[in-house]
Amino acid sequence: MSTTTQPLLEVKGLKKHFPIHGGILGGRTGYVYAVDGISFSINRGETLSLVGESGCGKSTVGKAVLRLYPITAGEVRLDGNRIDNLSQSDLRPLRQRMQVVFQDPFSSLNPRQKLRDIIAEPIINFGLASGSELDDRVGDLLDRVRLPRDAMYRYPHEFSGGQRQRIAIARALAPGSDLIICDEAVSALDVSVKAQIVNLLSDLQDELGLTLLFISHDLAIVEHLTHRVAVMYLGKIVELADRTTLFGTPHHPYTRALLSAVPVPDPTVKRQRIILHGDVPSPINPPSGCRFHTRCPFVFDRCKVEEPVLRDVGLGRMSACHLDVVPDTVPNQPVVAEAAA
Ligand SMILES: Nc1ncnc2c1ncn2[C@@H]1O[C@H](COP(=O)(O)OP(=O)(O)OP(=O)(O)O)[C@@H](O)[C@H]1O
Ligand code: SF4
Ligand SMILES: [Mg+2]
Repeated sequence: MSTTTQPLLEVKGLKKHFPIHGGILGGRTGYVYAVDGISFSINRGETLSLVGESGCGKSTVGKAVLRLYPITAGEVRLDGNRIDNLSQSDLRPLRQRMQVVFQDPFSSLNPRQKLRDIIAEPIINFGLASGSELDDRVGDLLDRVRLPRDAMYRYPHEFSGGQRQRIAIARALAPGSDLIICDEAVSALDVSVKAQIVNLLSDLQDELGLTLLFISHDLAIVEHLTHRVAVMYLGKIVELADRTTLFGTPHHPYTRALLSAVPVPDPTVKRQRIILHGDVPSPINPPSGCRFHTRCPFVFDRCKVEEPVLRDVGLGRMSACHLDVVPDTVPNQPVVAEAAA
């Protein structure tokens, strides 16, 4: 039974391994360990951001939560009720509550449909309104995303990238959803348009009490919107903390490296840029011990054999690193003055 303190979404020990087939007979030759045992929760009305380099498993988490494919292991709960083991027919009413906004709205907006039909479709599918009530609902949704009502009689190609993302958000809100998964929803937009869409999402969250899982590789954008941040590396969460703590006093060396690449607006501020050498290793054959050990500037023997667990390291941070205290500076890397952003 749900209570007011019950997280809206809970993910426990989630794994998604994609089988790899090959050889002459096309048998299974291995797995892509895309998501390899992660846990997090999101409270109602909260934004949790999932960040990390390309290929670390962010989208796979989003798709697994949405049950776009079956999971390998773990549990996903909505309002305390497991949804990972439901049949597609039992899942259908819950789909009304969970919607997604992808990076490229063009691929999800039918170019031959007018906006009215695009936004009305989920309302009709879930049997929520018809006739003039349906038009009113579409009009209300356009108001919500700050588009003029007469936009409903136009086609997606008549809108800019930012406006199309507003349409995708209106469509995601249409069935009365309370969890929206934004997968790189602003990544392809120009800086100023990005900020407008982020502000819109923030306003909608206040107005409607929305819960957001915000997937992004762009930490600078995340900082303006999120309540908490989960940092992923090679299928694992390596740090989880509230926004202020994560941006102010990050613990994990990987988080620090990611943050060191975010421009600081004040040109008088000096800080060390942590350069990570080498590519992210393959999720088909992840490194032993700490998966980050092949690139970590603080690596020591234990890291290569023992996997660190996500643990409380103080100041409200959960970090998966063997070090209790991570040094503030990395040897042999220069401290530079930041250019204005
Ligand atoms: N359907 C699939 N079959 C096999 N491997 C997959 C599949 N989907 C994703 N992967 C692999 O799983 C890993 C994680 O992919 P995912 O798309 O979740 O990463 P991501 O963090 O969202 O990356 P990006 O920032 O580039 O969007 C990658 O190695 C990817 O190639
Ligand atoms: S456990 Fe070791 S390799 Fe991993 S992040 Fe910490 S110091 Fe670096
Ligand atoms: Mg992705």
